[in-house]
Amino acid sequence: MSIKRKDFLGLYNTDREEIVSILNTAESMKEIFTRTVKKVPTLRGKTIVNLFFEPSTRTKSSFSLAAKRLSADVMSVSKKMSSVQKGESLLDTAKTMEAMGADVVVVRHGSPGAVEFLAEQLSARVLNAGDGAHAHPTQALLDLYTIKENLGQIEGLKILIVGDITHSRVARSNIWGLNHLGAEVRVVGPNTLLPVEIEKMGVEKYTDLDQALSDVDVINILRIQLERQKSGLFPSINEYIKFYGFHEERLMQVDDEVLIMHPGPMNRGIEIDSEVADGKQSVITEQVTNGVAVRMALLYLLAGGNPEDAEIT
Ligand code: CP
Repeated sequence: MSIKRKDFLGLYNTDREEIVSILNTAESMKEIFTRTVKKVPTLRGKTIVNLFFEPSTRTKSSFSLAAKRLSADVMSVSKKMSSVQKGESLLDTAKTMEAMGADVVVVRHGSPGAVEFLAEQLSARVLNAGDGAHAHPTQALLDLYTIKENLGQIEGLKILIVGDITHSRVARSNIWGLNHLGAEVRVVGPNTLLPVEIEKMGVEKYTDLDQALSDVDVINILRIQLERQKSGLFPSINEYIKFYGFHEERLMQVDDEVLIMHPGPMNRGIEIDSEVADGKQSVITEQVTNGVAVRMALLYLLAGGNPEDAEIT
């Protein structure tokens, strides 16, 4: 089993068959979590580098843990603690890690296209861990996995993504992935946070949350990037909470089976209240767990480990 391309940059150029294959591999990886020793020798001798030029809690730790569970050697470089502070370029930093024998370089960067640029320049395989507002494919894959695990399928489901769609790599990647798998995708938010012609991505656009909630199966609530309020894209946090915030009362409008998702980090009390985030419909912590399985699957498929070593069925 392997992936069709050298690098894994986004779901925009990944077809349905590849997505299904990654999700199936992730399912086998998740079985490893139930063992006493949660580690297999699949990527023994391979080197994975985490190159993070933007803050991250979930994605960075998840990639590190995924690589360790597959027995790879793992190195991490962050912008703040590296020679980037002394003026070294992104490319020189990446090439330095490649020279130490990196097989896969996992990159997060604030600029859209930075990961694609590195993929063109490096012989090592490159995996996108989030680039600007462009793409965050592993987040979307773990979201797809979590939906399928809880609801048994993705095709035909109505998925609502709420909030700042314009600046969200999570929204864009989810839309690509969900469309490939046959879901009906809706987006809702203030007009100023919805991209012009977003419908061309194959989604239904709403500004009224009550209308958008009708008959949904999954609600994926995005983090409000608080700096957007300062730049005038919505008048006040209180107004956002009133029209788009998820509190217990809002949840009464939907069925008890509707899944509540959030990619994290959460602004509790703004886009989501604690009663909703920690409530029985929330699968937010499951998303985090599944993130490790999905990243194990991708590292395995990209780094070309020995399937016999995988001890996965
Ligand atoms: N969801 C997500 O990408 O979180 P981090 O920024 O903590 O990695």
